[in-house]
Amino acid sequence: MIIKEQLIFNSINIEMKRTHHCCELTKKNAGESVALIGWIESLRDHGGIIFLDLRDREGLTQIVFDPNQNNYGKLLSELKPESVIEAHGLVQLRPAETINSKLFTGEIEVHAEELLIHNISQTPPFPLEDEKAERVHEDLRLTYRYLDMRRPSVLNVLKQRHQTVRSIHTYLDEQKFIEVETPIFFKSTPEGAREFLVPSRMSPGSFYALTQSPQQYKQMLMVAGVERYYQIARCFRDEDLRADRQPEFTQIDLEMSFIDREDMYKLIEGLLQRIWKEVLDIDIPVPFPRMPYTDAMNRYGVDKPDTRFDLEIVDFVDVFKESEFKVFSGVIKKGGVVKAFNAKGLADLTQGELKQLEESAKLLGAKGLAFIKSEKGEWKSPILKFLSEDEKAALKTRLQVEEGDIIFFAAAEWDRACAILGRVRLEAAELLKKKGRLEIPDDRYDFLWVIEFPLMLHDPEEDRYVSAHHPFTSPVPEDTSLLDSDPQKIRGQHYDIVLNGVELGGGSIRIHQPELQKKVFEDVLKIPPDVVETRFGYMLKAFQFGAPPHGGIALGLDRLVAILAGRESIRDVIAFPKTQKGQCLMTQSPAPVTEKQLRDLRINTVDLDI
Ligand code: AMO
Ligand code: AMP
Repeated sequence: MIIKEQLIFNSINIEMKRTHHCCELTKKNAGESVALIGWIESLRDHGGIIFLDLRDREGLTQIVFDPNQNNYGKLLSELKPESVIEAHGLVQLRPAETINSKLFTGEIEVHAEELLIHNISQTPPFPLEDEKAERVHEDLRLTYRYLDMRRPSVLNVLKQRHQTVRSIHTYLDEQKFIEVETPIFFKSTPEGAREFLVPSRMSPGSFYALTQSPQQYKQMLMVAGVERYYQIARCFRDEDLRADRQPEFTQIDLEMSFIDREDMYKLIEGLLQRIWKEVLDIDIPVPFPRMPYTDAMNRYGVDKPDTRFDLEIVDFVDVFKESEFKVFSGVIKKGGVVKAFNAKGLADLTQGELKQLEESAKLLGAKGLAFIKSEKGEWKSPILKFLSEDEKAALKTRLQVEEGDIIFFAAAEWDRACAILGRVRLEAAELLKKKGRLEIPDDRYDFLWVIEFPLMLHDPEEDRYVSAHHPFTSPVPEDTSLLDSDPQKIRGQHYDIVLNGVELGGGSIRIHQPELQKKVFEDVLKIPPDVVETRFGYMLKAFQFGAPPHGGIALGLDRLVAILAGRESIRDVIAFPKTQKGQCLMTQSPAPVTEKQLRDLRINTVDLDI
């Protein structure tokens, strides 16, 4: 990581008690009197001399104490690492043989003349050296997150996050965006995720909802004539948590008037290009490739394809529609599909690994995970006996099967078959990586726009249409005529930005005509008119007063920084993250409240056996 400017305020001299930070002194400073403050990283008592490594946010400096001076020997022997001290002394060159070239300050040491002890630390509950700390259970680190964050690797991520946000502010400012804060207390609206509710003391029985995103407010800002809005916005969603999901997270949220999709692609490509340059000093090429949603699903089985490796999924409906193998032909007769991909070079996977892939497929509703291995010059599979020579030949050519490969199949409805193989493809890639047969360089960044999403998806459980993105997304103009006849065929003006298989952000050109918006709510999404009126009445009203054409996007800042910092989980790039169960272990929240608090809110809790 490049830290362009140290996060230090030298220029206006508010160093307070210290004259320098701990990653500053070099041989140029030899002979100067200095004052440093920080935490004791380590103490080494060499009999006649004591070496102390002092650490602050910026780095380490070695301080040398004479144990006989001012009783320092005894004082220091009582200090544990992580105690806070202030040392005044003289900068001296280290003897040539003790120069530490790995340390920025390795040419010098400070010979202490004065020691002040600000806080005597207890022994930390876990070691703070990176390799050891990484092996400690995350729960313990999160309970003592303030200690965990003292590790330079954790602090550096916070610096990187700061630098990212700073790039965003300058770029969007240059592009004439205005930062506007919008309320966090909103009202419950059916936008997608489950919401957090906040009871209102002043309106008993009524609730605010914490904003899932500032979506409706930013559209109102467009009606208000702001033209270009952005916000580093906190969002709240009561979802099941995963490595890339937190109940509260941050979006780079923006909205613009008088634009089309092409303008948005250009704006975001420029933004990401700026961030990668300023934070990682990497030039990323633009424009990013674009892939229609249907292609993404057909070839990669997901709407956020990781295109850093191939293992592409291929359709075999034409090959198996009359097959003797009824598992395949039966599914096709019922309108389903048969798809397969070649996990190149994975034929020697273990029984356990195969079982695991099958389990993953079954979690997504697969009836099984048929496979064919090409091993020792022949094909092996429980389903081989059902396949004709032509079918085998088609598999071999289309999937380019060679010795050592394994093919996986899914036969199911189109979306289910895509999802199953999409998951198996990713897990197979993980196995290949583990076995050293698939290399993905750390600095490879595959940006991709996924476009032409359907506007609506059919929810078979409720037999109704639901928005693929949200109900404010505008249909592609040439598809608007299908609103009454065939809503499922309409494409939305929706775009997602994907990076290395992670959905970084999504947005759309919005509906700005009140009649069209009402039609989508009532006729397509089948939201009853009275509900439309109470939930969205204000919006339909606002659109009657000169709403400009507009569109926007939101990028997940936590996901963005996690990728920049090369971290697996967004918990690593959030100062105080919640656990998988939504708890803050450091402050022990959520927590019960008093009877009086509940009474004030007119809330009664009951144990329900749900
Ligand atoms: P969407 O719901 O796609 O769009 O969210 C945009 C981006 O926010 C990030 N994100 C999350 N990050 C961490 N934890 C979560 N629980 C979480 N949920 C979402 C993702 C995602 O791509 N209002 C629209 C945007 C728009 O249309 O302008 C919206 O919120 O990176
Ligand atoms: P069966 O004839 O049901 O024993 O299935 C034969 C093989 O096909 C087994 O390996 C199953 O795991 C697999 N299989 C069954 N149904 C499907 C399906 N819908 N898609 C892919 N593989 C399947």
